[in-house]
Amino acid sequence: MKKLIVANWKMNPQSQKEAEIVFNGIVKIAKSSRNIDIIVCPPFPFLSIGKKIKIKIKNLMLGAQNASEEAEGAYTGEVSPKMLAGLGVKYVIVGHSERRALGETDQTINKKIINALKSKISPILCIGESIRDAGGDYLSFIKQELHECLKSIPKAQISNIVVAYEPIWAIGENANREATPEEFTEARILIRKIISDLYDSKTAHSVMILYGGSVHEDNAKEFMLNGGADGLLVGRDSLSPKKFALIINAAK
Ligand code: PGA
Repeated sequence: MKKLIVANWKMNPQSQKEAEIVFNGIVKIAKSSRNIDIIVCPPFPFLSIGKKIKIKIKNLMLGAQNASEEAEGAYTGEVSPKMLAGLGVKYVIVGHSERRALGETDQTINKKIINALKSKISPILCIGESIRDAGGDYLSFIKQELHECLKSIPKAQISNIVVAYEPIWAIGENANREATPEEFTEARILIRKIISDLYDSKTAHSVMILYGGSVHEDNAKEFMLNGGADGLLVGRDSLSPKKFALIINAAK
């Protein structure tokens, strides 16, 4: 399987012009890194830039940062997966901790996954604990999240879902500290075991498991090599084509 690097721009940048600059930079990186799949997840208003620019670069794909759990109708402010598919979106981030903090529950996330899959959009499901307690409660927390988010999703659809392990304590500028490749390895093995118990081992091995949370040029290689990550989910450093290029190079 090709490695997967996801760029989550969050609510940045603030202008179309800046977005085009970052996008153009990532296009260049993608052209020189054909053995890596890159997914750019800009805010909704900038998705159309991606559609315009991207043409014919197979390893560069568009992702959204959110999509409604509803198919259509009277839901002010919501965007449906079908609308996103029409813009060429192939992936959608679901369950990000910053959205959970706004009130999204595992049940909503489960509906979002089911709805996205109906429009042939692959969900990038973010899971992860807020604290790593010495007693190991975080392990059952991860299990519970996966069980709820994958509820009633048929086996045949599981390989279309990407799981991103993002420990909340390691995300963003206010992170307590960085996670280690060993901590990721533990979570990765657990995630595969849970999916294997829910479905079977072959299905579990068809799922890509990414690491996310303060990824930068110096730790990217370690998460891939020592942590065995299938890829990375990058926040802050995906907004600088220079820094993002270094991460891609490290991942290679
Ligand atoms: P960060 O964000 O790389 O800025 O920590 C990662 C994420 O929230 O997906």
